[in-house]
Amino acid sequence: MHAILPFTILAASHLASAHFALTYPEWRADTLTLEDEYSQYTWPCAGVPADAGNRTDWPLTGGSLKLQLHHKWTYLFVNLGLGDNVTNFNYTLTPSLWNETGNGTLCLPTLPLPVDLNVTDGTRATIQVVTSGESGSALYNCADITFRSSAELLNSSECVTSPGVSVAVVNQQANESTSTNTSSDTNTTTGDAGKSAASVPGVNTVALTSAAGLVVAFVVGLSW
Ligand SMILES: *[C@@H]1O[C@H](CO)[C@@H](O)[C@H](O)[C@H]1NC(C)=O
Ligand SMILES: *[C@@H]1O[C@H](CO)[C@@H](O)[C@H](O)[C@H]1NC(C)=O
Ligand SMILES: *[C@@H]1O[C@H](CO)[C@@H](O)[C@H](O)[C@H]1NC(C)=O
Ligand SMILES: *[C@@H]1O[C@H](CO)[C@@H](O)[C@H](O)[C@H]1NC(C)=O
Ligand SMILES: *[C@@H]1O[C@H](CO)[C@@H](O)[C@H](O)[C@H]1NC(C)=O
Ligand SMILES: *[C@@H]1O[C@H](CO)[C@@H](O)[C@H](O)[C@H]1NC(C)=O
Ligand SMILES: *[C@@H]1O[C@H](CO)[C@@H](O)[C@H](O)[C@H]1NC(C)=O
Ligand SMILES: *[C@@H]1O[C@H](CO)[C@@H](O)[C@H](O)[C@H]1NC(C)=O
Ligand SMILES: *[C@@H]1O[C@H](CO)[C@@H](O)[C@H](O)[C@H]1NC(C)=O
Ligand SMILES: *[C@@H]1O[C@H](CO)[C@@H](O)[C@H](O)[C@H]1NC(C)=O
Repeated sequence: MHAILPFTILAASHLASAHFALTYPEWRADTLTLEDEYSQYTWPCAGVPADAGNRTDWPLTGGSLKLQLHHKWTYLFVNLGLGDNVTNFNYTLTPSLWNETGNGTLCLPTLPLPVDLNVTDGTRATIQVVTSGESGSALYNCADITFRSSAELLNSSECVTSPGVSVAVVNQQANESTSTNTSSDTNTTTGDAGKSAASVPGVNTVALTSAAGLVVAFVVGLSW
């Protein structure tokens, strides 16, 4: 249980930060309503076990993601792990760290998969969405998915981002020339969407320190 300790300390220092909802794909459990039972501060999935909820079919090339956010702004990243009962979220769907601004719904019609992730019809996985404040105190929610060739993206009426809500790549120095259109409804930048996992070059020092702290804690957590 020692592995939990760093998070408890971080959590206690930042109780004021706002929680979030993962509305698509469907989260394992409503960790906002069930806050007596679960805590979004708990890595990796707010304390909700695998298959506590419903598994959503997701397209083989990547699917839609819909969040309800309540911060003025927050770092945001999305990880993925393969399997029925994921312990290793070792793929990132956000190769660059994102800064989400605004209070409301953020809907990304397509979150592309990393190029080195091979999935076929029936592959099971879990998506982990993480928001983190400037201090590095992080919140987690997970959704269990099954990759399906028959699965579809959310359509334009289902996937609407609130006015005033947007995401931007944190790193201003990064090459944004490869920005892709993840959205036709919103002004969204994803940066190097095709690049492989976990590179966050040029993030400012504060962010880098926080992120590095989290990574260390993750590794400690994994060894348990
Ligand atoms: C799973 O889906 C069913 C049917 O839509 C719903 O009634 C149930 O509440 C969902 N379970 C969870 C944990 O959200
Ligand atoms: C997932 O793994 C954990 C830890 O290994 C175990 O306690 C739990 O029962 C497993 N859950 C399922 C649904 O297999
Ligand atoms: C990710 O983790 C899974 C399960 O531990 C492993 O099979 C896979 O090779 C890993 N992939 C990468 C890119 O590290
Ligand atoms: C994130 O965006 C908000 C609002 O646009 C801004 O105030 C904040 O400084 C940004 N944070 C970082 C680390 O870029
Ligand atoms: C976000 O919006 C909701 C609903 O509009 C409102 O109740 C809440 O106070 C807002 N939160 C912040 C931090 O602005
Ligand atoms: C992914 O699949 C392709 C084609 O089947 C194969 O060439 C490649 O080695 C696979 N990559 C991994 C990481 O398994
Ligand atoms: C979007 O999907 C919903 C649910 O499947 C459906 O009711 C609606 O008509 C669709 N809207 C558009 C614009 O395709
Ligand atoms: C940005 O891209 C250009 C052209 O592809 C390259 O010459 C330059 O070194 C890149 N800069 C950084 C900071 O990666
Ligand atoms: C991005 O979207 C805009 C507006 O929908 C469109 O004009 C532009 O061609 C798109 N760019 C790419 C690279 O798809
Ligand atoms: C995108 O941003 C531009 C400039 O900020 C704005 O004029 C435009 O209406 C926005 N488009 C959407 C779909 O929000």
